[in-house]
Amino acid sequence: MLTLSGSPRRHLGHPDLPGHQVMLSRGPALFLCLFLLLLPEAAGEHGGETWWDRQGRPIVKKMGKGLTDRVKAVTTLSKKYWAYLSCQVWPQDCDEEKEAASKSLGWTLPLLGQQYLDILSNWYCHFKECCDRGDCRIINNITGLEIDLSTRLHGQHLAHEVVLKSVKGFLSVPQPEKPLVLSFHGWSGTGKNFVARMLADHLYRDGLESECVQVFISMLHFPHLKYVDTYKEKLMEQVSDTVQRCGQALFVFDEAEKLPPSLLETLKPLLDHYDTIREVDYRRAIFLFLSNLGGNTINEVVLSWLKAGRPREEITMEDLEPYLHAEILKSTDSNFGHSRLVKENLIDFFVPFLPLEYHHVKLCARDAFLSRDLDYTEEALDKVAKMMVYVPKKEKLFSAQGCKSISQRINLFLP
Ligand SMILES: *[C@@H]1O[C@H](CO)[C@@H](O)[C@H](O)[C@H]1NC(C)=O
Repeated sequence: MLTLSGSPRRHLGHPDLPGHQVMLSRGPALFLCLFLLLLPEAAGEHGGETWWDRQGRPIVKKMGKGLTDRVKAVTTLSKKYWAYLSCQVWPQDCDEEKEAASKSLGWTLPLLGQQYLDILSNWYCHFKECCDRGDCRIINNITGLEIDLSTRLHGQHLAHEVVLKSVKGFLSVPQPEKPLVLSFHGWSGTGKNFVARMLADHLYRDGLESECVQVFISMLHFPHLKYVDTYKEKLMEQVSDTVQRCGQALFVFDEAEKLPPSLLETLKPLLDHYDTIREVDYRRAIFLFLSNLGGNTINEVVLSWLKAGRPREEITMEDLEPYLHAEILKSTDSNFGHSRLVKENLIDFFVPFLPLEYHHVKLCARDAFLSRDLDYTEEALDKVAKMMVYVPKKEKLFSAQGCKSISQRINLFLP
């Protein structure tokens, strides 16, 4: 048991797995219990080819006869556990029978039990075999995220650093105290959606298509204030469903500045610290709020920096965050700054997206050509970059639209 939960993890060199520490320190007896419940079913359902076997560790054989007998006595219950687990790990093999069994377990799962099953299925899904079979839903490819942030996100050294560090740190804690909540700020076209998509792509095999990733766009999902009670109900249901199915779920709220105030308040308890274990555990979820709040402040800071002849890469979070935070708090045309999410410090990081300059727009244009396997010339890149409007009027330093719709614009230069 100890070998099983400990060694493959180390062996595969995944420092970020929720894994054995939790199991061992928090509830070894309970976990052992669940574990034993699962074993015989694992062997049965997959015709002897248990998941443990695929690790080259036929643990079943090591069980004493007494244990095996005891396990047999609880077969009915364990079938349900197995159905639950296998539906989590191999959703496409989850037939109706298994799904029904798994659902019938529902709330009857002891709370801790569910938590451990989630950790276990998650943890199992990190194994290489699982990914090679195409079964792995949560991939948490930090290396891939890092490469993407370094090569495809232009002009955002602060967002790059804060996002990478916070996500990496969060995923390396087996049982975080609260969900990770990041709030992205900046003008449109600076890369907020782009980074949200990168996170989806590198944390989940199916990216934005993954059932564990939910995107909400204020004007699309919650357009009418008079229906806010219905929205609230639906949102809570969806968030709680997703978290129960995925554990590590990703929620993106685009146009967060337009979220109705009472929706924000509804979300508040989910984002807070947990002192007791609740029915649904949101602590391994990641919440992203995207808005243009604070964009002007960010631009002013960058402008004054550039005017002073200093490179933008030298701007630190300390230089920017106090101004950004202050502007968000005092914004009068939005509820976000006045919500308790902001006031009670439930946002872990305010991530500034800086305004983009001419040479950044050229890099975006280059990426757009490359991503379509097209040849480009320096001249074409300049032409694309010149199509954008630059502000402020006098300095003309920042692209007003950032890198927005660059990929459509390159169409004009195709033969
Ligand atoms: C992580 O992403 C990188 C870059 O996209 C890729 O080369 C690598 O194979 C990925 N690793 C895994 C385990 O998927």
